[in-house]
Amino acid sequence: METFTVTSYEDARDVYRQKDLRQALYDAGEIVMGGVLVNLHGDEHRARRRLENRLFRRETLVRYERDYFPGIIDDTLAPHVSHGSVELVHLSHQLMMNLAALNAGVDRPLGTPEETNRLYSYMMKFIEGATLAHTLRDPDAVKSEVRDSMGRFEAEFLAPSIARRHELIRGWRAGEIGEDALPLDILTVLLRNEDSLHIDQQTLVREIAFFLLAGAHTSATAFVRTIDNLFSWLAKHPEDAELVRTNREFVQHAVYETIRLNPSSPTGMRRALADVVLRNGTVVPAGSSVVIDLMSVNRDKSVFGADAAEFNPHRGEQASGVSRWGLSFGSGMHACIGQELAAGLNERSADTADYEYGLSTVAVQAMFDRGVRPDATRPAAIDTATSRPYWSSYHVLFGPSAAGMRG
Ligand code: HEM
Repeated sequence: METFTVTSYEDARDVYRQKDLRQALYDAGEIVMGGVLVNLHGDEHRARRRLENRLFRRETLVRYERDYFPGIIDDTLAPHVSHGSVELVHLSHQLMMNLAALNAGVDRPLGTPEETNRLYSYMMKFIEGATLAHTLRDPDAVKSEVRDSMGRFEAEFLAPSIARRHELIRGWRAGEIGEDALPLDILTVLLRNEDSLHIDQQTLVREIAFFLLAGAHTSATAFVRTIDNLFSWLAKHPEDAELVRTNREFVQHAVYETIRLNPSSPTGMRRALADVVLRNGTVVPAGSSVVIDLMSVNRDKSVFGADAAEFNPHRGEQASGVSRWGLSFGSGMHACIGQELAAGLNERSADTADYEYGLSTVAVQAMFDRGVRPDATRPAAIDTATSRPYWSSYHVLFGPSAAGMRG
């Protein structure tokens, strides 16, 4: 079967809108992604999405940003700041996992570092499983490790998290506790509606694992890349050094630019369920695939201007209907459910002006507040286990530089 590739912004938007093009990006990653939201189509997708959307209402996101982000960021960064240095790839996943676990509904009853390390290792394995199509390792070996981690995750984390929520939901239905006492997470939303959703236990395990990895991995890579882009930008534009600390909107625009230039997945993919005619006249026969080349789409000069391929946090508003982040959060039925949680709102309302910047923005600014700078003695290294453009390590230092102190 043929594969068609779209490279322009408008063609990509058209592909995302077509009802007869279904998700195909995760076919190789079924072991983690089978039956999860991003892999559903039509009515089944609509029903689950409608329920899960409830957790991403504006007031809930403000509550996350106001009540949870500062503590999670402080607690995760504190030991590294006092040590004076940290490796960003690990830190970013640790930080974003702490938030994603809260949002997905994964409890850590022991609260020990060892318990968090185990959850971290399972999550990293799920990420490897979800991106199996890009692995440079033996796929069967990866699959067997993912299966093993899934089983351990279910026994150690998910079973107790489900039991605790069942008990809370029972108490709420019996009038013993108020709705406010129920956790604000995906697992609770699903368990409250399990009679109408008919999700089997294994799909539930995968859905929560998916929210954990989707929430953590995307924001983690955006966090590291934004810091890297800002290091390069500030080296050339030292006059913006203060802005990074004082102007949260500037940092948010740096996050959007980073996500535009480096989408968490460089491609989207769809498979035709029937013959589909695209807006440019291309006929995509049933069974064929369409690749959305986001690296090209988001650098479309007719949309973003002659310097489309450059990182520029001062880039102005785009034409109407074009987002600062390009199509890096997708569009149409599968448009990212966690976009505002990760990167905030482009336009803020007056009454919540302080809280709509998103976790990536708040976390990047927290790093610059603590004087983050590259560790020149340990250059960043590329991950050789995947064809995706990830770093395997990126060392940074905290505090004022010796040169800065002399100055
Ligand atoms: C920088 C951060 C993020 C980026 C770049 C990103 C990117 C994307 C993209 C491109 C899609 C659409 C996939 C497609 O149509 O094929 C998507 C969907 C999704 N994202 Fe995100 N995401 C981010 C953060 C998050 C967070 C924080 C969460 C969880 C809270 C999340 C959960 C999801 C889910 C559940 C879907 C599937 C939605 C559906 O199928 O209806 N994402 N994301």
